[in-house]
Amino acid sequence: MAKPKIAVVFYSTYGTNHGIAAAAAKAAEEAGADVRVLRIPETAPEAVVNGQDAWKAQAERASEFPAVSNDDLVWADGIFLTSPTRYGGMASQTRAWLDTLGGLWMQGALVNKTITASATSQNKNGGTEGAIQQTYVSAMHFGMIPVVPGYADSVKFEDGGNPYGFSAQPGELSEVGHRSVAYQAKRLVDITAKLIG
Ligand SMILES: Cc1cc2nc3c(=O)[nH]c(=O)nc-3n(C[C@H](O)[C@H](O)[C@H](O)COP(=O)(O)O)c2cc1C
Repeated sequence: MAKPKIAVVFYSTYGTNHGIAAAAAKAAEEAGADVRVLRIPETAPEAVVNGQDAWKAQAERASEFPAVSNDDLVWADGIFLTSPTRYGGMASQTRAWLDTLGGLWMQGALVNKTITASATSQNKNGGTEGAIQQTYVSAMHFGMIPVVPGYADSVKFEDGGNPYGFSAQPGELSEVGHRSVAYQAKRLVDITAKLIG
């Protein structure tokens, strides 16, 4: 069986989604995938980013990773995408990046690639379900195949139970969070492996 190629793509203002991306990448590697960890470019003005110590520090941490390119997406068989919630939807940085992919959409370059998504929000019911669903809606326009966790593993009865994708509040990933992200990443790898044959 071929080794699935997985792009773990993240946007993070304060670090939480960066942590989720790191956990997903580790789990995907352990599940047998070739993995690239890629950051979604910042769109906020530099003065705004530098005006908040926590935002500036995260921007510096994220800069260790390459910005996601169209070539990365063509390379990948599957994508693990994680992003904060903003006003009940995905972060505008993530939306802005998706809006640059029209060329790939037109070429059908993402057809039949898999995707799974996660999101964070300040409040437990602050909109992660909507943010994740919006990600899948856009992915469906690309002809991508959403691979969702559902309740197919018992960890979903421990992690808050968002069946569309892992969701969490800001901060360090908990032990349960690590297991849930690992489950979702492994499921992505396993199903992608079946699809690519
Ligand atoms: C402009 C803005 C809008 C936000 N909107 C929401 C929201 O609708 N619901 C919520 O619970 N949290 C909201 N938050 C909090 C973020 O979701 C939270 O900071 C983020 O999930 C942390 O992820 P990060 O550490 O990867 O940046 C918002 C934050 C900002 C800055």
